[in-house]
Amino acid sequence: MHAFPMGTAMWAEQLPAVPPGWRVLTPPLPGFDGRPLIAARTMDAYGRAVLDTLDAEGVDRAVFGGLSLGGYVIFGILRQAPARVAGLILADTRTSTDTPDRRAARAQSIALARSQGAAAIAAEMIPSILGATTRAERPDVVARVRAMIESQPAETIAAGLEAMKDRPDSADVLRRVTVPATIIVGEEDTITPLADAESMQRSVPGATLVTIPKAGHMANLEMPRQFNAAMSSFLSAT
Ligand code: MLT
Repeated sequence: MHAFPMGTAMWAEQLPAVPPGWRVLTPPLPGFDGRPLIAARTMDAYGRAVLDTLDAEGVDRAVFGGLSLGGYVIFGILRQAPARVAGLILADTRTSTDTPDRRAARAQSIALARSQGAAAIAAEMIPSILGATTRAERPDVVARVRAMIESQPAETIAAGLEAMKDRPDSADVLRRVTVPATIIVGEEDTITPLADAESMQRSVPGATLVTIPKAGHMANLEMPRQFNAAMSSFLSAT
């Protein structure tokens, strides 16, 4: 599951790196990539939409991978249908809720999305979602991320912000997990930093933790080779 507010194009470099034998689905969350928006703006509703896609594809159990918002949605899936989860790849995400300051900032971003659209949200987010190294050295990645955000509808962005702002704490949900799991985090991630990843690792027995140097919050886009190595070694062992 993709991050906010990106869409499934963010996985382009991961798809060829999936080991043979795995079938990969990258469902866009409601409202993204031209998919219809839904009325409910909650992580559980987004998780239900993903489960509906799996039902339509005839998939009962799967390894679920998600980055940031994608991780929050996976917690929604774990809350509703833990038996369908065969393994977890949790990248640059966290189980905790937003702080009061973060919630206030979300409310401002909702207003910004509605008044000025996706381009204003891209300008606001890029300094924090990309690591310092990427912003200094990889203008191609910065441009690609900007284009991915700008391609999403403003109301989809507002809905995603609402769902993130009110998401429940998921620490208990993760503590009940017994399937294989790996946690991945960019070393320069300031939104969901290493401490969040370490806390998730401690919650799941046997979970591995991979840190990606010179990557921020969008570790898969910023350092795809290193991210892919972590993803494919986990999938090969699962
Ligand atoms: C994301 O990358 O999905 C969002 O930035 C996560 C967040 O803002 O909490």
